[in-house]
Amino acid sequence: MRPLGGRVALVTGASRGIGAAVAEALLAAGARVVRVSRTLTPAEGYVDLPSDLTDPRQVDDLASRLAEGAGVPEIVVSNAGGFLLRPLAETTVADFDVQIAINLRAPFALARALIPRMRAAGGGSYITIGSVADHVGFPDNAAYAASKYGLRGLHETLAAEYRGSGVRLTLVSPGPTDTAIWGPFDPDHREGFPSRAQMLRPSDVADAVLFAATRPPHVLIDWLRLGPA
Ligand SMILES: NC(=O)c1ccc[n+]([C@@H]2O[C@H](COP(=O)([O-])OP(=O)(O)OC[C@H]3O[C@@H](n4cnc5c(N)ncnc54)[C@H](OP(=O)(O)O)[C@@H]3O)[C@@H](O)[C@H]2O)c1
Repeated sequence: MRPLGGRVALVTGASRGIGAAVAEALLAAGARVVRVSRTLTPAEGYVDLPSDLTDPRQVDDLASRLAEGAGVPEIVVSNAGGFLLRPLAETTVADFDVQIAINLRAPFALARALIPRMRAAGGGSYITIGSVADHVGFPDNAAYAASKYGLRGLHETLAAEYRGSGVRLTLVSPGPTDTAIWGPFDPDHREGFPSRAQMLRPSDVADAVLFAATRPPHVLIDWLRLGPA
């Protein structure tokens, strides 16, 4: 019997990178996996609900489409996100808004749409992908860090609000991970950054998510931090 046999799991940002690895790991563990992102290439075994999570109406619509189809998920991995490395003086307010929209406002809208429904349906595991930048300040990272520090605040607040409700909230905060998110920033030739070969693999983060999702309900697993050795 696979550990997540028969459970419904929803993964945002599942079209590539960490989210794709998480979706694959949850599927292999037996879950019925609902993938969410703006673009999705059909693949065997998944239920796909393409959505732009920066549009609150699409997030609410996602909750309705779930209710009519796969059902309320028992596992949610709120992973979709963006990244920006840019000095403060070159970061516009519009750049800041883009990071907040996908890394903070969208996770808030998703939590609001799904966590109360999860509680009403009996509970589950709600996992947010933060970042090392949700608790460490790095140069040239103000907009991204502000969004991820805010996301950690959202996680901590909701974890307190829903403690004992049956919905367990976990924050997974990875360090640099070799995905397309680094494409514009050339880490292999950027001083002070790990090379792609030194970074975590998306499957390393997926392993941490699977660990959190498979703990029994009486275990509180609040925060997992991982990074390159
Ligand atoms: N890679 C790292 O070093 C690292 C380290 C720490 C934390 N993280 C965090 O891990 C998460 C995943 O990052 P990644 O490295 O896997 O990035 P990635 O490869 O760029 O993937 C980002 C995912 O988010 C989705 N997405 C972006 N905007 C969206 C929107 N408006 N609506 C719906 N989906 C959207 C993308 O799909 P579409 O474009 O198809 O919509 C894609 O599936 C992010 O939250 C990131 O901050 C990454």
